[in-house]
Amino acid sequence: MDNKKLAGQTALVTGASSGIGKACAIALGEAGANVVVNYAGNGAGAYEAVEAIQKAGSKAIAVKADVSQKDQVDAMFEEAILTFGTLDILVNNAGLQKDAPFTEMTLEQWNYVLGVNLTGQFLCAQAAVKEFLRRGMNGHRSLGKIICMSSVHELIPWAGHVNYAASKGGVMLMMRSLAQELGPMKIRVNSIAPGAIKTPINRMAWETPEAEQRLLRLIPYKRVGDVADIGNAAVWLASDESDYIHGTTLFVDGGMTLYPGFEDNG
Ligand code: BGC
Repeated sequence: MDNKKLAGQTALVTGASSGIGKACAIALGEAGANVVVNYAGNGAGAYEAVEAIQKAGSKAIAVKADVSQKDQVDAMFEEAILTFGTLDILVNNAGLQKDAPFTEMTLEQWNYVLGVNLTGQFLCAQAAVKEFLRRGMNGHRSLGKIICMSSVHELIPWAGHVNYAASKGGVMLMMRSLAQELGPMKIRVNSIAPGAIKTPINRMAWETPEAEQRLLRLIPYKRVGDVADIGNAAVWLASDESDYIHGTTLFVDGGMTLYPGFEDNG
Protein backbone atom coordinates (compact mmCIF):
# COMPACT_ATOMS: atom_id res chain seq x y z
CA MET A 1 0.00 0.00 0.00
CA ASP A 2 1.18 3.52 -0.80
CA ASN A 3 1.98 4.97 2.59
CA LYS A 4 2.40 8.51 1.22
CA LYS A 5 -1.16 8.78 0.03
CA LEU A 6 -1.41 12.46 1.06
CA ALA A 7 1.81 13.61 -0.65
CA GLY A 8 1.54 17.10 -2.07
CA GLN A 9 -1.34 18.09 0.18
CA THR A 10 -1.49 20.40 3.17
CA ALA A 11 -3.51 19.67 6.30
CA LEU A 12 -4.41 21.88 9.23
CA VAL A 13 -5.25 20.11 12.49
CA THR A 14 -6.75 22.13 15.33
CA GLY A 15 -5.98 21.21 18.91
CA ALA A 16 -2.97 19.22 17.76
CA SER A 17 -0.71 19.63 20.79
CA SER A 18 -2.04 16.53 22.59
CA GLY A 19 -4.31 13.53 22.43
CA ILE A 20 -6.28 12.74 19.30
CA GLY A 21 -5.32 15.95 17.48
CA LYS A 22 -1.60 15.35 17.94
CA ALA A 23 -1.95 11.77 16.70
CA CYS A 24 -3.92 12.91 13.65
CA ALA A 25 -1.33 15.58 12.82
CA ILE A 26 1.50 13.04 13.01
CA ALA A 27 -0.43 10.41 11.03
CA LEU A 28 -1.24 12.92 8.26
CA GLY A 29 2.43 13.94 8.19
CA GLU A 30 3.52 10.31 7.98
CA ALA A 31 1.13 9.95 5.04
CA GLY A 32 3.06 12.70 3.24
CA ALA A 33 1.03 15.84 3.98
CA ASN A 34 2.47 19.18 5.07
CA VAL A 35 0.88 19.85 8.44
CA VAL A 36 -0.14 23.00 10.28
CA VAL A 37 -0.18 22.03 13.96
CA ASN A 38 -2.59 24.32 15.79
CA TYR A 39 -2.46 24.72 19.55
CA ALA A 40 -4.07 27.05 22.07
CA GLY A 41 -1.74 26.81 25.07
CA ASN A 42 0.57 23.79 24.97
CA GLY A 43 3.42 24.97 22.75
CA ALA A 44 5.71 22.15 23.89
CA GLY A 45 3.21 19.51 22.76
CA ALA A 46 2.76 21.24 19.41
CA TYR A 47 6.52 21.32 18.80
CA GLU A 48 6.75 17.60 19.62
CA ALA A 49 4.19 16.97 16.87
CA VAL A 50 6.12 19.22 14.47
CA GLU A 51 9.34 17.31 15.18
CA ALA A 52 7.68 13.92 14.70
CA ILE A 53 6.26 15.05 11.35
CA GLN A 54 9.61 16.41 10.20
CA LYS A 55 11.28 13.16 11.23
CA ALA A 56 8.78 11.34 9.00
CA GLY A 57 9.99 13.50 6.09
CA SER A 58 7.14 16.02 5.84
CA LYS A 59 6.97 19.73 6.56
CA ALA A 60 5.20 21.16 9.59
CA ILE A 61 4.70 24.41 11.47
CA ALA A 62 3.04 25.11 14.81
CA VAL A 63 0.55 27.97 14.95
CA LYS A 64 -1.02 29.30 18.12
CA ALA A 65 -4.70 30.27 17.88
CA ASP A 66 -7.83 30.02 20.00
CA VAL A 67 -10.29 28.52 17.50
CA SER A 68 -13.25 30.23 19.17
CA GLN A 69 -11.88 33.66 18.14
CA LYS A 70 -12.43 34.68 14.51
CA ASP A 71 -9.47 37.07 14.31
CA GLN A 72 -7.11 34.36 15.57
CA VAL A 73 -8.57 31.76 13.19
CA ASP A 74 -8.20 34.12 10.22
CA ALA A 75 -4.59 34.91 11.16
CA MET A 76 -3.81 31.19 11.47
CA PHE A 77 -5.22 30.38 8.03
CA GLU A 78 -3.30 33.32 6.55
CA GLU A 79 -0.06 31.99 8.00
CA ALA A 80 -0.84 28.44 6.82
CA ILE A 81 -1.53 29.58 3.25
CA LEU A 82 1.47 31.89 3.21
CA THR A 83 3.70 29.01 4.30
CA PHE A 84 2.35 26.16 2.19
CA GLY A 85 0.52 27.93 -0.66
CA THR A 86 -2.91 26.51 0.06
CA LEU A 87 -4.83 24.06 2.23
CA ASP A 88 -6.39 20.74 1.19
CA ILE A 89 -7.47 19.12 4.47
CA LEU A 90 -8.95 20.53 7.66
CA VAL A 91 -9.21 18.33 10.74
CA ASN A 92 -11.57 20.24 13.00
CA ASN A 93 -10.40 18.60 16.18
CA ALA A 94 -9.98 21.14 19.00
CA GLY A 95 -12.33 20.20 21.80
CA LEU A 96 -12.58 20.18 25.57
CA GLN A 97 -14.78 19.24 28.49
CA LYS A 98 -15.92 21.36 31.45
CA ASP A 99 -18.12 18.90 33.31
CA ALA A 100 -20.66 19.74 36.01
CA PRO A 101 -24.01 18.53 37.31
CA PHE A 102 -26.67 20.42 35.38
CA THR A 103 -27.86 22.76 38.16
CA GLU A 104 -24.25 23.67 38.95
CA MET A 105 -23.10 24.26 35.40
CA THR A 106 -22.16 27.89 34.96
CA LEU A 107 -22.89 29.94 31.88
CA GLU A 108 -19.10 30.29 31.50
CA GLN A 109 -18.69 26.49 31.39
CA TRP A 110 -21.51 26.23 28.84
CA ASN A 111 -20.17 29.04 26.64
CA TYR A 112 -16.55 27.88 26.86
CA VAL A 113 -17.34 24.36 25.64
CA LEU A 114 -19.77 25.48 22.92
CA GLY A 115 -17.30 28.20 21.88
CA VAL A 116 -14.39 25.85 21.28
CA ASN A 117 -16.17 22.62 20.28
CA LEU A 118 -18.85 24.06 17.99
CA THR A 119 -18.15 27.72 17.12
CA GLY A 120 -14.47 26.81 16.66
CA GLN A 121 -15.41 24.16 14.09
CA PHE A 122 -17.71 26.65 12.32
CA LEU A 123 -15.01 29.34 12.10
CA CYS A 124 -12.30 26.96 10.88
CA ALA A 125 -14.58 25.24 8.36
CA GLN A 126 -15.60 28.62 6.94
CA ALA A 127 -11.99 29.76 6.58
CA ALA A 128 -11.04 26.44 4.95
CA VAL A 129 -13.93 26.50 2.48
CA LYS A 130 -13.07 30.06 1.41
CA GLU A 131 -9.52 28.90 0.65
CA PHE A 132 -10.69 25.77 -1.23
CA LEU A 133 -12.94 27.94 -3.43
CA ARG A 134 -10.23 30.57 -4.01
CA ARG A 135 -7.70 27.93 -5.04
CA GLY A 136 -9.85 25.78 -7.32
CA MET A 137 -9.22 22.16 -8.31
CA ASN A 138 -5.58 21.09 -7.97
CA GLY A 139 -5.21 17.51 -9.13
CA HIS A 140 -7.05 15.69 -6.36
CA ARG A 141 -10.50 14.19 -6.63
CA SER A 142 -12.13 16.82 -4.41
CA LEU A 143 -11.66 20.54 -3.93
CA GLY A 144 -10.95 19.92 -0.25
CA LYS A 145 -11.76 17.73 2.71
CA ILE A 146 -13.13 18.65 6.11
CA ILE A 147 -13.07 16.12 8.94
CA CYS A 148 -14.97 17.12 12.07
CA MET A 149 -13.95 15.43 15.31
CA SER A 150 -17.24 14.50 16.90
CA SER A 151 -17.80 11.89 19.60
CA VAL A 152 -20.02 8.96 20.44
CA HIS A 153 -21.79 11.70 22.41
CA GLU A 154 -23.26 13.12 19.21
CA LEU A 155 -25.58 10.13 19.74
CA ILE A 156 -25.25 8.98 23.36
CA PRO A 157 -26.73 11.40 25.91
CA TRP A 158 -24.28 12.17 28.72
CA ALA A 159 -25.49 13.19 32.18
CA GLY A 160 -23.17 15.64 33.86
CA HIS A 161 -21.80 16.73 30.50
CA VAL A 162 -24.73 18.52 28.84
CA ASN A 163 -22.52 21.25 27.39
CA TYR A 164 -20.20 18.68 25.78
CA ALA A 165 -23.01 16.46 24.46
CA ALA A 166 -24.86 19.51 23.08
CA SER A 167 -21.68 20.65 21.33
CA LYS A 168 -21.18 17.25 19.67
CA GLY A 169 -24.86 16.98 18.72
CA GLY A 170 -24.36 20.38 17.11
CA VAL A 171 -21.24 19.18 15.28
CA MET A 172 -23.27 16.30 13.85
CA LEU A 173 -25.89 18.47 12.15
CA MET A 174 -23.40 21.20 11.27
CA MET A 175 -21.31 18.57 9.47
CA ARG A 176 -24.29 17.05 7.66
CA SER A 177 -25.66 20.46 6.65
CA LEU A 178 -22.23 21.52 5.40
CA ALA A 179 -21.95 18.27 3.44
CA GLN A 180 -25.31 18.97 1.80
CA GLU A 181 -24.39 22.58 1.00
CA LEU A 182 -20.78 22.04 -0.09
CA GLY A 183 -21.03 18.69 -1.91
CA PRO A 184 -21.96 20.37 -5.21
CA MET A 185 -18.68 22.32 -4.92
CA LYS A 186 -16.80 19.02 -4.56
CA ILE A 187 -15.90 19.70 -0.95
CA ARG A 188 -16.06 16.50 1.06
CA VAL A 189 -17.23 16.76 4.68
CA ASN A 190 -17.35 13.95 7.26
CA SER A 191 -16.99 13.33 10.97
CA ILE A 192 -15.09 10.86 13.09
CA ALA A 193 -16.86 9.91 16.31
CA PRO A 194 -14.31 8.46 18.72
CA GLY A 195 -15.42 6.41 21.69
CA ALA A 196 -13.21 6.09 24.76
CA ILE A 197 -9.68 6.77 23.55
CA LYS A 198 -6.78 6.94 26.03
CA THR A 199 -5.98 10.67 26.14
CA PRO A 200 -5.61 13.35 28.83
CA ILE A 201 -9.30 14.39 28.45
CA ASN A 202 -10.57 11.17 30.07
CA ARG A 203 -7.54 10.05 32.10
CA MET A 204 -9.71 9.38 35.16
CA ALA A 205 -11.78 6.86 33.20
CA TRP A 206 -8.83 4.57 32.39
CA GLU A 207 -5.80 5.28 34.55
CA THR A 208 -6.45 2.74 37.32
CA PRO A 209 -7.22 -0.94 36.59
CA GLU A 210 -10.58 -0.57 38.40
CA ALA A 211 -11.57 2.44 36.30
CA GLU A 212 -10.49 0.66 33.12
CA GLN A 213 -12.60 -2.40 34.02
CA ARG A 214 -15.62 -0.14 34.58
CA LEU A 215 -15.01 1.55 31.25
CA LEU A 216 -14.67 -1.78 29.42
CA ARG A 217 -18.25 -2.62 30.42
CA LEU A 218 -19.24 0.10 27.93
CA ILE A 219 -17.10 -1.29 25.10
CA PRO A 220 -18.21 -4.55 23.42
CA TYR A 221 -14.80 -4.99 21.76
CA LYS A 222 -13.21 -4.92 25.26
CA ARG A 223 -10.34 -2.59 24.47
CA VAL A 224 -9.92 1.09 25.27
CA GLY A 225 -9.00 2.92 22.08
CA ASP A 226 -5.58 4.32 21.18
CA VAL A 227 -4.99 7.63 19.45
CA ALA A 228 -3.58 5.70 16.48
CA ASP A 229 -7.06 4.21 15.92
CA ILE A 230 -8.25 7.75 15.18
CA GLY A 231 -5.13 8.84 13.28
CA ASN A 232 -5.55 5.94 10.86
CA ALA A 233 -9.21 6.81 10.29
CA ALA A 234 -8.34 10.47 9.67
CA VAL A 235 -5.72 9.59 7.03
CA TRP A 236 -8.18 7.37 5.20
CA LEU A 237 -11.02 9.91 5.36
CA ALA A 238 -8.66 12.60 4.06
CA SER A 239 -7.46 10.47 1.15
CA ASP A 240 -8.96 9.85 -2.28
CA GLU A 241 -9.60 6.23 -1.20
CA SER A 242 -12.69 7.49 0.62
CA ASP A 243 -13.76 9.87 -2.16
CA TYR A 244 -17.38 8.67 -2.16
CA ILE A 245 -17.77 8.99 1.63
CA HIS A 246 -19.60 12.25 2.21
CA GLY A 247 -21.78 13.51 5.04
CA THR A 248 -21.07 10.47 7.19
CA THR A 249 -20.02 9.98 10.78
CA LEU A 250 -17.46 7.21 11.09
CA PHE A 251 -17.78 5.74 14.60
CA VAL A 252 -14.41 4.51 15.88
CA ASP A 253 -15.56 3.27 19.24
CA GLY A 254 -15.09 -0.49 19.69
CA GLY A 255 -18.87 -0.74 19.61
CA MET A 256 -19.67 1.74 22.38
CA THR A 257 -22.74 2.86 20.44
CA LEU A 258 -24.20 -0.70 20.38
CA TYR A 259 -26.17 -0.35 23.64
CA PRO A 260 -23.71 -2.57 25.58
CA GLY A 261 -26.08 -2.52 28.58
CA PHE A 262 -28.10 -5.09 26.62
CA GLU A 263 -25.17 -7.56 26.39
CA ASP A 264 -26.62 -9.73 29.15
CA ASN A 265 -29.89 -8.01 29.90
CA GLY A 266 -33.12 -6.74 28.37
C1 BGC B 1 -15.09 12.13 25.76
C2 BGC B 1 -14.37 11.19 26.69
C3 BGC B 1 -15.16 9.91 26.87
C4 BGC B 1 -15.61 9.33 25.55
C5 BGC B 1 -16.55 8.16 25.73
C6 BGC B 1 -15.40 11.40 24.48
O1 BGC B 1 -16.00 12.24 23.55
O2 BGC B 1 -14.29 13.28 25.52
O3 BGC B 1 -14.16 11.82 27.94
O4 BGC B 1 -14.36 8.95 27.56
O5 BGC B 1 -16.26 10.31 24.79
O6 BGC B 1 -17.57 8.41 26.66
